[in-house]
Amino acid sequence: MKRSCYCGYVRKDSIGKELTVCGWVHSRRDHGGVIFIDLRDREGILQIVFQPENKNIFSVAEHIRSEYVLRVKGYVRPRPEGTLNPNMPTGEVELVVGELEILNSSQGLPFEISDYVETGEEIRLKYRYLDLRRPVFQKNFIVRHKISKEIRDFLNEDGFLEIETPFLTKSTPEGARDFLVPARVKHGSFYALPQSPQLFKQILMVAGFDKYYQIARCFRDEDLRADRQLEFTQVDLEMSFVEEDDVIDVVERMLARVFKGALNREIKTPFPKMAYSEAMLKYGSDKPDTRFEMLIQDFSAQLQNCGFGVFSGVLSKGGVVRGLCIPKGAALSRSEIDGLTKFVGEYGAKGLAWMKVTAAGAESNIVKYFKDEEIKIILSKLEAKDGDLVVFLADEEKIAAQGLGALRLKMGRELGLIDKDKFNFLWVVDFPMFEWDKQERRWQALHHPFTSPKDGEDETFALTNENAGNIKAKAYDVVLNGVELGGGSIRIHKSQTQKQVFNLLNIDEESAKEKFGFLLDALSYGAPPHGGVALGLDRLCALLIGEESIREVIAFPKTQKALDPMSNAPSEVSEKQLKELGVRIVIKQANK
Ligand code: AMO
Ligand code: AMP
Repeated sequence: MKRSCYCGYVRKDSIGKELTVCGWVHSRRDHGGVIFIDLRDREGILQIVFQPENKNIFSVAEHIRSEYVLRVKGYVRPRPEGTLNPNMPTGEVELVVGELEILNSSQGLPFEISDYVETGEEIRLKYRYLDLRRPVFQKNFIVRHKISKEIRDFLNEDGFLEIETPFLTKSTPEGARDFLVPARVKHGSFYALPQSPQLFKQILMVAGFDKYYQIARCFRDEDLRADRQLEFTQVDLEMSFVEEDDVIDVVERMLARVFKGALNREIKTPFPKMAYSEAMLKYGSDKPDTRFEMLIQDFSAQLQNCGFGVFSGVLSKGGVVRGLCIPKGAALSRSEIDGLTKFVGEYGAKGLAWMKVTAAGAESNIVKYFKDEEIKIILSKLEAKDGDLVVFLADEEKIAAQGLGALRLKMGRELGLIDKDKFNFLWVVDFPMFEWDKQERRWQALHHPFTSPKDGEDETFALTNENAGNIKAKAYDVVLNGVELGGGSIRIHKSQTQKQVFNLLNIDEESAKEKFGFLLDALSYGAPPHGGVALGLDRLCALLIGEESIREVIAFPKTQKALDPMSNAPSEVSEKQLKELGVRIVIKQANK
């Protein structure tokens, strides 16, 4: 008996045909002497029927349990009137079994293989092979495969070369913590696993490959969240002789192809572009979710001399006052508003001022400090209506923006303002090149130190402590529904500009040489102008499929605590291995 068809593919047009299918016993029902089994394979579920007349097979079938592996041969017939299942693609037919082979049995399961079972993540990951049998996962990984295939097909057809870069390498400057691998051949030295192929892909441009791509695994020792794993996959590109819009165009065409191929959905290109400053002002985020409005407004100019000491005090110290209108929020109770105050407190806000909007104007404990004219301006800028709640943060710009940005998202979700069926793409552009690090009292690169400043190729370009804050980068992030899907930049290819950037960042020649001297050397041998981008493939898959967490589109992810309960990694290693590596364990972790 050889399999002739996937269970999930059987339809009405097979009626009367003899088929052989293989799969796992999803469920088994005994109905008045007839045994029904839902047989499951990666493409779906088919109902198979054992009739009592076929005594030999029937008595074997009586011993079949959940998740046994079967091969059956039989003929397809229509399901009897009244037993059709419109929720199943195979719901109009069933297979009457003529031959049965039990290929394997199964132990009792730790949890049911069903899309509707709520099992703790730890157990699910310990038995990931069972978890992955759930129909939803089979579908997720089929879609993920389609997405990767569309990406590869598109890039291959567009003239990109797929080239692999090393895993055992030197630390890359993406800003996260490195995973280190002790070197057996050079005790005391370590390889770093790549945080991205950044340096190597730039070197491939110097080597003349012109258009490179790689679906590359990256490693970052970060705290895990729903959209972060220790190892994740980037669709990584680099191109020579290009400007920002060339890279942007490739990404848009690639994503359009992916959405058409994997979801059969058209997406509108070109994507809108928004300056970083506008994103921070109106959305309080560098990855705005534009599926709903509820925009933040700035009142710093209008309230400079207002009578409310908290606001005027913050403004006189160079801070900002920003506000948000929560539709129908006037119905919130005092304790609910206190809850919102606590929520913004997590972003560093020192309080949350509020006004309930009424037919006559506004009401709250602070309304008395404002002139009628000021209230009017506030309500009109926020387009606030009777029954809404207006809230304000007065603080340094970053805290006010981030606090209100997070509150906007929270309220948008809670009030059901987000259209889940929308795919809103957006480019965030015109990033500042540098950010002042208040604690360390020095400039930091917002992207990475190889990103080209605007006008960086100009002979007269001069970077100073005074103008650093105003210089914009040739960097771009692609955002989808409030998630940073990818980012990239045009790189510096002139050593003169690179030196100025290192100077400003206080990276002296020696440590630059130490860290990425090989890239700097390469750049000095005729580097073409070049730039690129990397998209998070796991995030793209999760968004496209509609999963909240990238763990649902990664076959073997780590838990929130960065562990793999199935293989038990990370684990201790033998004394012999340590000795070979020249490694001695001095501190035993107390948290074991
Ligand atoms: P960046 O660090 O912005 O850029 O990363 C690009 C994209 O990778 C995804 N990503 C992650 N996905 C899951 N888990 C993580 N821990 C994680 N970290 C990042 C995000 C992100 O947008 N070399 C540059 C790109 C370039 O300049 O060409 C880079 O790595 O979707
Ligand atoms: P207080 O004057 O401290 O009683 O505060 C009056 C109102 O202003 C309260 O609702 C506080 O939550 C709010 N408030 C205090 N500090 C700030 C701030 N920095 N930004 C916005 N509202 C604030």
